[in-house]
Amino acid sequence: MVPHWRRRLPLLLLSLLCPSFASAHSFENTAIVRTIDLGGSLVHVTTTYAVKALEDGAGVYTLALAERELKRTSWLEAKIKGQQNILAMESAGFDGESGVYLFSVELPETLRTNGTANLVVEAIETHATYPWPEEAGQKDGQSLKYETDLFVVSPYKTSVERIKIKSPSPNILSYSTPEGLDEFTMEIPVTKSGATITYGPFSNIPATADATFLKPKQKEVAVHYNYDHPVIEVTELKRSAEISHWGANLNIEDKIHLHNAGPKLKGHFSRLEHQASTFLGRMPPHVLPSLTLHLPPNIRSPYYYDLIGNVSTSHLRVGHLPAQQSSLLEVRPRYPLMGGWNYSFTLGWDSPLADYAGYDKSTGKYVIGVPLMTLVPGAVVGDAEVTIILPEGATDVDFFPPFTPIQSYVKTHVTYLDTVGRPAIILEYKDLTTKHAGTVYVMYKVPLSAHLKKPLAVATAFMGLFVLGFAVRRMDVRIQKK
Ligand SMILES: *[C@@H]1O[C@H](CO)[C@@H](O)[C@H](O)[C@H]1NC(C)=O
Ligand SMILES: *[C@@H]1O[C@H](CO)[C@@H](O)[C@H](O)[C@H]1NC(C)=O
Ligand SMILES: *[C@@H]1O[C@H](CO)[C@@H](O)[C@H](O)[C@H]1NC(C)=O
Repeated sequence: MVPHWRRRLPLLLLSLLCPSFASAHSFENTAIVRTIDLGGSLVHVTTTYAVKALEDGAGVYTLALAERELKRTSWLEAKIKGQQNILAMESAGFDGESGVYLFSVELPETLRTNGTANLVVEAIETHATYPWPEEAGQKDGQSLKYETDLFVVSPYKTSVERIKIKSPSPNILSYSTPEGLDEFTMEIPVTKSGATITYGPFSNIPATADATFLKPKQKEVAVHYNYDHPVIEVTELKRSAEISHWGANLNIEDKIHLHNAGPKLKGHFSRLEHQASTFLGRMPPHVLPSLTLHLPPNIRSPYYYDLIGNVSTSHLRVGHLPAQQSSLLEVRPRYPLMGGWNYSFTLGWDSPLADYAGYDKSTGKYVIGVPLMTLVPGAVVGDAEVTIILPEGATDVDFFPPFTPIQSYVKTHVTYLDTVGRPAIILEYKDLTTKHAGTVYVMYKVPLSAHLKKPLAVATAFMGLFVLGFAVRRMDVRIQKK
């Protein structure tokens, strides 16, 4: 069996292409500040490491993630503070002794002894919060719990460290006060100010990516906070993008399974109560009445239906470039989505192919940029399967996804009137976040003869019908003759 983290790993490794780094160098963290921005489906964790080199030519810094941290991390990115360039990062394996996963980060330039750098590591965690209590009545509020390890795990010793946990509202129901930290601080280890809980500062922390630290000294802290928005997950997204040169069209269809991951509805749903709260403008925080989706600009003939049929209560505002970068679709499900409930729907639209396509004269290839996913703000996309169907007869297919998928392959998609079928690229992903809303670049050649295949197929089909009709008539004739 493939362990879970292995399946996830490709998502994390944005720069697999670079060859193996030189072995890690010695550093010291002069300061670490970690800020955890709590949310619903997504939790943003930003960690700033002020590092000092302990040897000349130090250029590879090692990051460490504990097992639970790794499982939750759907996005991981390192930069130098104040710079835009994403630093190359690769897996440096699992350290069985400490139970920690290591990643090598390549600094843009090597440091001399005592040289310093500020590294900013951004992570997005998914499935990291859970509703507490697990059930809520229709009119109740909503609160979530988040648990995490207190000390940042690092193979280097750290002079000073602070951990800040920010709740979306100052209404924090409870938070942990860890004990037994005298070794690292003389003060009270935790303070609350508004919506922020700060642990530390802690001083003189040894290397924490080590069993001799983790087992006896790592602490777990929990924050229980109010969350005033529905916790939305897309449990499954199936996107099918069909490129048609003949119609100069890019058709995109999304099959979306939504799940409200908030507290499960206690008792029965009362429509009357729901209408009353809608009327009074006091919608409980865990109820999702509608959803605003960002679709591409310039879209045409959109459709939206669910298991029952066409949903007419949706509202679309088409954006036009350059002023409006996206079209906004307000999806209003047939019923308000209560905690624990699901809603499946299909959404589709056409776009002018010219908005996405280019032609590379030097290689004779078409280049099409297909958007990977529809952005559902604040939601995690659990399982995503993206299928890109190329024109019939396309050859020399190449594709460049924005992130390494779990799996990708090319198969042949056969539809009505196709003669040889169309190449289709399939990409599979897990736990996508807003950060993953990138573009898949697809390149292929279409020989001139392929352009003619479709009309030929149509013509042949008509001929077939004609011949069949002819045969039938002849038969009729024969019957009449008798
Ligand atoms: C590095 O800094 C330490 C303490 O600040 C100092 O003792 C040492 O000489 C420095 N080393 C170099 C090579 O600058
Ligand atoms: C579906 O509903 C939309 C209104 O949202 C309407 O414009 C469209 O014609 C309907 N389609 C069908 C097939 O009924
Ligand atoms: C919602 O879907 C999930 C799977 O995505 C399933 O486990 C769960 O039972 C469904 N909930 C309801 C109320 O149907």
